[in-house]
Amino acid sequence: MRRPFARSWTGALATAAVAAALPLASPASAVADSVVIGGSPVRIAESPWVVALASRDRFGGTRSGQFCGAVVVGPTTVLTAAHCVSEGVLGVPLSRVSDLKVIVGRGDLGTAEGKEIPVREARVNPEYDAETNSGDFAALTLAEPLPQSYVIGMAGSGDTAYTAGTEATVYGWGDTTGSGSYARTLHAAPVRVLPDTVCERAYPGSADGTYSATTMLCAGELDGRRDACQGDSGGPLVAEGRLIGLVSWGSGCGRPGRPGVYTRISDVVRVLGDSA
Ligand code: ARG
Repeated sequence: MRRPFARSWTGALATAAVAAALPLASPASAVADSVVIGGSPVRIAESPWVVALASRDRFGGTRSGQFCGAVVVGPTTVLTAAHCVSEGVLGVPLSRVSDLKVIVGRGDLGTAEGKEIPVREARVNPEYDAETNSGDFAALTLAEPLPQSYVIGMAGSGDTAYTAGTEATVYGWGDTTGSGSYARTLHAAPVRVLPDTVCERAYPGSADGTYSATTMLCAGELDGRRDACQGDSGGPLVAEGRLIGLVSWGSGCGRPGRPGVYTRISDVVRVLGDSA
């Protein structure tokens, strides 16, 4: 039985944040060899739906407080990874983070360009399983609407963009080396949608997670090199102009035989549809 998504929101964000800058926390540790891994800088104006999830209280101000990626899917709706708003990442329960913001139109986190919009509400997928990483998404509601031109469409089930071999692009401000060099500017890397069997074999079940083709999407390159990494979580994977995934997990970054695992957007559409 599916639980109604609308009823399980974690509640309006509460007061009193405890100030302490944490290192960018994430479940998987990074070991990698190259640069997002294997990517290059891109202009935010060309991908306005890519936004940063930030809290200066929790992560310090040098990179505008960025700690995860996110993506605009409606004028007031932004998707990110469920694990991004977990206590494990934030260091405190989400209800204790009073300055959670989405940063729009700021490619360079060292600047004040674009706009910071407070998050009014965060709803974690009720089907999220932190053990397997299945259903790793949360829907955030913005305190004020964005123009429709910022919105990217979500690929529903059966969309051709999910076909193995499709060229896709992953975006983020995450680690570009696998050893903790967080990007100041937005990067993007070209990757391919990989057959589910590749991730089923790579991730049959371990501390990192368990691959499930119904809720996850496998992408990268068979020989590694290009991948998302820590700090990219919650950010978009785009193919054929549509959103197909959110950066979720992997084993290290850019390793051969260890592709990136993404939250499958068609499953997000299914869960969100339940609340309509
Ligand atoms: N869990 C990471 C984060 O919180 C994302 C890891 C993605 N890893 C990968 N190899 N694709 O930022």
